[in-house]
Amino acid sequence: MPNKKIILSGMRPTGKLHLGHWTGALENWVALQNDGGYSNFHLIADYHVLTTNLDSSHIYEYSIEMILDWLAAGIDPEHSPIFRQSQIKEHSELHLIFSMLITQPRLERNPALKEQIRDLNLGPISYGHLGYPVLQAADILLYKGEVVPVGEDQLPHIEITREIAREFNRQYGRVFPEPEGKLTEFSRLPGLDGKRMSKSLGNTILLSDLPDEVKKKMKKAVTDPQKIHKGDPGRPDICLVFMYHQKFNATEVQEIRSGCESGQLGCVDCKMRAAEKINEFLDPFRERRKFYENKPEEVKKILSDGEERARSVARSTMAEVHQAMKLG
Ligand code: TRP
Repeated sequence: MPNKKIILSGMRPTGKLHLGHWTGALENWVALQNDGGYSNFHLIADYHVLTTNLDSSHIYEYSIEMILDWLAAGIDPEHSPIFRQSQIKEHSELHLIFSMLITQPRLERNPALKEQIRDLNLGPISYGHLGYPVLQAADILLYKGEVVPVGEDQLPHIEITREIAREFNRQYGRVFPEPEGKLTEFSRLPGLDGKRMSKSLGNTILLSDLPDEVKKKMKKAVTDPQKIHKGDPGRPDICLVFMYHQKFNATEVQEIRSGCESGQLGCVDCKMRAAEKINEFLDPFRERRKFYENKPEEVKKILSDGEERARSVARSTMAEVHQAMKLG
């Protein structure tokens, strides 16, 4: 597609997606897709899952769940091919070449990795785990991705991608762009306990939750600990429910703020109003998800079509790589 900027982004398939995935990245994927000036590619990073979990038995099932959520959120597979990393061999091939272009200390210095080792309390990691961003660089550059809409946590990986692209181009002649990350406005939506929204913390609202589940979960959300009774003045700026209002209920934010600060608005009412807005927002997602859930063959077809389209781009990039390296 001439003149269109290439968008490449992906996620690891770890099950159903939550609101944090939407506000952190997916929202931008859909907006850029609908903008008209971009050509999107969306990758399911199934090999990346193995860096922290060698049990591969659920990867396929989780990949399908994730595709359903992407489609529910408005990814249009006609415009934006969806594909699995494992099904396009060129990812592995480019990963191997790239692994020669970056040093071990550089990868050990990666702040995203350090954070993960700390959070998951990992012992010595595998060679493949150290190379996580090298595989991610291959994911992006195989499609000559120029814009990478992701969550904030991914920026260190994109920096490594840029360094690898630069090094390849310096060594063998220009083949690759230097991609840029693109963040959303709400790149960190807190979970219902105020910590980062994450499946492992059990504090999520899923894109596929039914309206009653959303209400039930919202009821348990933590609010300003100094606001105990209705009538107590609250501090919206430290309250995560207020953040949900800012994101999903923009038109009533001023009223919610003054109600909270004066004490007139109680936390239970405030939460239910947020739940209602979130439900309104998710309704079209639920509808589209149901449509595709009832058509598993269609979802498989979307995936195989996406993989065919991605493969043809990947092959042509690898031909250029081989030529630049004089390996052909
Ligand atoms: N590391 C990303 C995540 O954890 C997933 C990913 C893999 C990715 N390859 C990518 C994201 C390429 C953007 C571009 O969410």
